[in-house]
Amino acid sequence: MAKILVVGATSTVASIFAQARAKSGDELFCLARNEEKLAGLTDSFPEAVKGVHCFDFNATDIATIAVKKAVECLGAIDIVLIAHGDLTPQMESEQNFQIAKSAFDINLLSVIALLIPISEQMVTQGYGKIGVITSVAGDRGRPRNYTYGAAKGALSLYLQGLRSTLWQSGVEIYDFKSGPVDTPMSASHKKNFSFSSPELVASEIWNAFQRRKFCVYIPGYWRWVMLCVRNMPEFIFQRLKFLSAR
Ligand SMILES: NC(=O)c1ccc[n+]([C@@H]2O[C@H](COP(=O)([O-])OP(=O)(O)OC[C@H]3O[C@@H](n4cnc5c(N)ncnc54)[C@H](OP(=O)(O)O)[C@@H]3O)[C@@H](O)[C@H]2O)c1
Repeated sequence: MAKILVVGATSTVASIFAQARAKSGDELFCLARNEEKLAGLTDSFPEAVKGVHCFDFNATDIATIAVKKAVECLGAIDIVLIAHGDLTPQMESEQNFQIAKSAFDINLLSVIALLIPISEQMVTQGYGKIGVITSVAGDRGRPRNYTYGAAKGALSLYLQGLRSTLWQSGVEIYDFKSGPVDTPMSASHKKNFSFSSPELVASEIWNAFQRRKFCVYIPGYWRWVMLCVRNMPEFIFQRLKFLSAR
């Protein structure tokens, strides 16, 4: 039985992850923004949920208090999944600085505000796994989503540094680089073969935690796709519509 903190528990991927862990007998503490939505989720597995706390994650000054509540409730924490995020409207973010900033606030800074107290707690324990859902959008700036991508890419870089900082402490840092997923976040996007189900993503996240795969692409084939996309010379990239169109 593991003690698990789920951050952004109302996200589709995180809620499926939480349900699966509850079924396996793990104990959960859930952080989310929307109390009503969270209650709708946790009511389906009340025996596993040891506590919840709701706040807007942009309120970074109370992130430490939220983590403290989880620690008071669970004691030591074995695993943390950080799943929240927001797909900023790209065109608006190019015209309005506040919208661009909001992408960095929620996708990057709110996560760092949580990572600091969570990793401090785990270093004190001497063990623990912290996983964060990032995105393949963070691997290369594309006209379609480069503001969101820049925030997610910075987050991946941060996680990479944190992983190497903590590697001797017993604390493991995981970066789950997801391709497109069929969830409310991508509701307005035309679906095609590249979309995965949230069930698949949640199950790959658990497999990565189990197998100690610290930086995974989900599904795995995105590793090879992004290897090509990342290394493609710009003059070719800009001429390929499926990569560089809006
Ligand atoms: N869907 C995709 O195509 C895709 C692709 C790559 C990576 N990802 C990443 O996968 C993760 C999971 O997303 P999902 O696909 O499961 O999307 P989702 O179902 O739309 O969930 C997004 C979550 O983020 C939460 N959130 C947004 N702003 C917040 C704030 N200010 N404070 C607290 N919580 C906030 C939402 O809370 P509420 O429930 O209160 O709205 C919701 O729980 C995200 O990090 C996302 O960036 C998604």
